[in-house]
Amino acid sequence: MRSGCKAGIIAFLKGDAATWPGIMMNKPLISLKNRRILLGITGGIAAYKAAELTRRLQDQGADVRVIMTRSATEFITPLTMQALSTHPVHLDLLNPDTESVMGHIELARWADLILIAPASANFLARFASGQGDDLLTTVCLAAQCPVAVAPAMNQAMWSKPATQTNSATLVQRGVQILGPEDGIQACGETGSGRLMAIDQLVVRVSELFNTGRLQGKTVMITAGPTREAIDPVRYISNHSSGKQGYALAVAAADAGAHVILVSGPTNLTAPDRVELIQVISAQDMHAAVQAQIASADVFIGVAAVADYRPKLVQQHKIKKDQNGQRSLTLELVENPDVIAEVAMRADKPFTIGFAAETERVETYARKKLIDKKLDMIVANNVGNTEIGFNSDVNAITVYFQDRAIDLPKMSKRSLSEHLIELISQQLIEAL
Ligand code: PMT
Repeated sequence: MRSGCKAGIIAFLKGDAATWPGIMMNKPLISLKNRRILLGITGGIAAYKAAELTRRLQDQGADVRVIMTRSATEFITPLTMQALSTHPVHLDLLNPDTESVMGHIELARWADLILIAPASANFLARFASGQGDDLLTTVCLAAQCPVAVAPAMNQAMWSKPATQTNSATLVQRGVQILGPEDGIQACGETGSGRLMAIDQLVVRVSELFNTGRLQGKTVMITAGPTREAIDPVRYISNHSSGKQGYALAVAAADAGAHVILVSGPTNLTAPDRVELIQVISAQDMHAAVQAQIASADVFIGVAAVADYRPKLVQQHKIKKDQNGQRSLTLELVENPDVIAEVAMRADKPFTIGFAAETERVETYARKKLIDKKLDMIVANNVGNTEIGFNSDVNAITVYFQDRAIDLPKMSKRSLSEHLIELISQQLIEAL
């Protein structure tokens, strides 16, 4: 469970920005730990503040990589930003050196958040008009993660209808505009256009990750495949990569939950913010879930759990020509149904199942919803090879007893955010 102290910090951060004392910044903002922030720096006198911003984001545990526009390099050197971020600074689109380190599409995929600070009037205009004529605008176009911009410019430039329209266009498209602030400007004029104070900017950035909808809740998620041993070298398994379950774990942690991720074997790295329990077989998964389920408010069964396992696990490798036979029969026995047992509990958490189907998706999903006594089931058609197993994208239908909601094809990350929002709403309605 999350500590009262942490809950207090988050509640405080949700208050009026103007009242936040700088002392708050001495406390760790958990939501930035291991966050991958791609910092875009554009040309303007406030560019020098990007150095401090990088440091402050790193103080909170974020991994910061930097893109600079050519005009930004007139105000602060790439070498300074490279030394601070400890990574090569990306300057040009299609530069063979930096592209070989991390190409522009990879950079866009890498980021959990793209933050452009300071953002010039010229950048806002190019971003709003959908241009991709340099590295920063191209990465913004390719981004699937949230994008935030912190404008900084002369007050007259900020107040011009063109700039205001560009800013409003970006807001409409889901871009977060952080600032600008009022005050005395480098040019000697006074008005709105200053880069938001760095302390405050870091708090606002952390808030973008922290929806707080599941604050104080414990969410247990199963993910990945299970492996059912046949002999010391062989097993029965399936194509689950764990991507969907891990994406949900991140989204639940972003929403403020304490997340227990019970994972079958995968090649994925779980975020530090998540309590990871690694298991191999369905029986291991069953035992791990049973051991901690009493503390869970929500249970999400994303794992592709093997329904059956070999009755006998051979002590030695089965030989091909055993007894001169040209066929091999394995006797299988049923595994425990992890989610059905969770849903049977007297203190049952809100229980969400997944249904991987290749035909009659709705019929089978609804049957599982009823048979396993689930509160909600997420159906995906894994007969479609573009989505579902091992893909970075998925398309789902969420079935409740009385209604269904379609979520069209999108990244597993975005889908998970929608699902967590949906689950949060259900919890609120159930109160
Ligand atoms: O891991 P990825 O590559 O990202 O792929 C994601 C996914 C396709 C695996 C995922 O989206 C998905 O559909 N997961 C459920 C797969 C599945 O095995 O479904 P099922 O219809 O067999 O099981 C229904 C539900 O019962 C599931 O919540 C499952 O976790 C649970 N179950 C099943 C059997 C069992 N013995 N115990 C269980 O808890």
